[in-house]
Amino acid sequence: MTDSNTNTDFDYRALRDAFGCFATGVTIITATSDAGISVGLTANSFSSVSLNPALVSWSLSSHAPSLPVFQNCSHYAIHVLCDAQQELALRFAQSRDDKFAGLELGEGLGGTPLLDGALAVFQCSNAYRHAGGDHVIFLGQVEKFEHNQGKPLIFHAGKFGDMAQQE
Ligand SMILES: Cc1cc2nc3c(=O)[nH]c(=O)nc-3n(C[C@H](O)[C@H](O)[C@H](O)COP(=O)(O)O)c2cc1C
Repeated sequence: MTDSNTNTDFDYRALRDAFGCFATGVTIITATSDAGISVGLTANSFSSVSLNPALVSWSLSSHAPSLPVFQNCSHYAIHVLCDAQQELALRFAQSRDDKFAGLELGEGLGGTPLLDGALAVFQCSNAYRHAGGDHVIFLGQVEKFEHNQGKPLIFHAGKFGDMAQQE
């Protein structure tokens, strides 16, 4: 153990580093508002929750510009990225209006934009939302899903990589 914090007077840089010890996959979550505004963000807070009913969770910063759309949309789509999609992950990790520009998009449940090339896609109804500190925790009910062969994009210790690079 290098750093240890045992009280609540946290060093938040150290806390972020400790959270970053948990290696995750990377997703892009997309949705469309009633007015037709499409949003999407890179998220690694995704987790499977329950098989029956089929539920997944993820969390969104309360400060995210996309929050109002995600709070109110009927559906969203969670794309699990493959190792060739790091550039897309970087694009959707920025606040900008043209995130979808030039991409080939499908249309999912509730008009949700669907991205090509993901390892798995979960189309979810926007079932539950809970306050969680400085984030909102979303629970989605999976209505449709697909998955493909390939290697996942990995996020660990603040860096993207593939499985080989984590060894
Ligand atoms: C690997 C990675 C994982 C991320 N995971 C999350 C997440 O789970 N929740 C979140 O709110 N932001 C997360 N972010 C930050 C968002 O992608 C970023 O703030 C994005 O700009 C939000 O979209 P918006 O500005 O259009 O609302 C992550 C960023 C990266 C690079």
